Amino acid sequence: MKTYDDDDAAVPLAGQDPEGSAQPEQPAPVRLPVAELHLHIEGTLEPELIFALAERNGITLPYAGLDELRALYEFSDLQSFLDLYYSNMAVLQTEQDFADMTRAYLARAALAGVRHAEIMMDPQAHLSRGVSLETCINGVASVLATSLEDFGVSTLLIAAFLRDQSEESALEVLEQLMAMDAPITGIGLDSAELGNAPAKFERLFARARDAGLRRIAHAGEEGPPSYISEALDVLGAERIDHGIRCMEDPVLVERLVAELVPLTVCPLSNVRLRAVETLADHPLPAMLAAGLNVSVNSDDPAYFGGYVDDNFEQLEAVLGLSEFDRVRLAANSIRSSFASEERKTELLAELGGAPG
Ligand code: HPA
Ligand code: ZN
Repeated sequence: MKTYDDDDAAVPLAGQDPEGSAQPEQPAPVRLPVAELHLHIEGTLEPELIFALAERNGITLPYAGLDELRALYEFSDLQSFLDLYYSNMAVLQTEQDFADMTRAYLARAALAGVRHAEIMMDPQAHLSRGVSLETCINGVASVLATSLEDFGVSTLLIAAFLRDQSEESALEVLEQLMAMDAPITGIGLDSAELGNAPAKFERLFARARDAGLRRIAHAGEEGPPSYISEALDVLGAERIDHGIRCMEDPVLVERLVAELVPLTVCPLSNVRLRAVETLADHPLPAMLAAGLNVSVNSDDPAYFGGYVDDNFEQLEAVLGLSEFDRVRLAANSIRSSFASEERKTELLAELGGAPG
């Protein structure tokens, strides 16, 4: 079986000639090929890009400079992060802005080993600022259209709806997305979880199902385990984003294992938003041991201290993930994706000898 140690130069990167004479001084890091299934494109806005876009658009930011902005990246909970996340979106004004943000993510994700990405965006967060659906969707989609050729990353787009807004608003936006034939594969549910139970969006998810869209939902990040069951039973969610609080309910864990429900776990996010105290306390090892279908994802990498490779590296450093578990996590991500069977087969073959 292949190994994927960072310094294992025997395993070439895609596009790298192993016999080539021009060897880089430092061997390029070799990453596991993974699918990133839980990623908010607006959460990839790095501080430098926030300032660059503000300048391009003549927007005065409420921070004097990068250091002052970075000093705000100390979150006490989900809402404290969301406040900054929505506020920083003000710099996204044109299709070009959305395209630049998307290109920056894909370039970085490719270095992290991401070979397939299912990218959420929050259309309502842009509409409420007076930015049209055409602007935000076309800006992101124009880059996704050639992501495989340009970055070696196959991609698809998921419209996420803000659960702290009304279901009527979500339904209205979904109809507009369908009327404009937006290139979305599915819908998701994000934003403030507590007090906004999944059942609030039953009609939205039924409409999406009838329209042939895939369905995912954040549940069990801050919300109770019952939100996970509700997302499955009432919304027909095919994947659960986060889902870590399932560990409080052994009966639910048994069900999730039996049904192979994918849980898109985001370890660094959980630490930064205080869902867990430290990475050493993260339930991922227990989730793997329980046989849950978990993957590792970055959520909002610009805000939470890292991309998928950073998540893996810190997990390894702190929790000592085995090679077997790393490959299992990568295989879970590929198998749980909405990529074509052909693409999944290709990526699993690249992963080589993925465990069952
Ligand atoms: N949780 C809920 N909503 C979000 C998140 C998250 O981690 N990131 C962006 N919107
Ligand atoms: Zn998320």
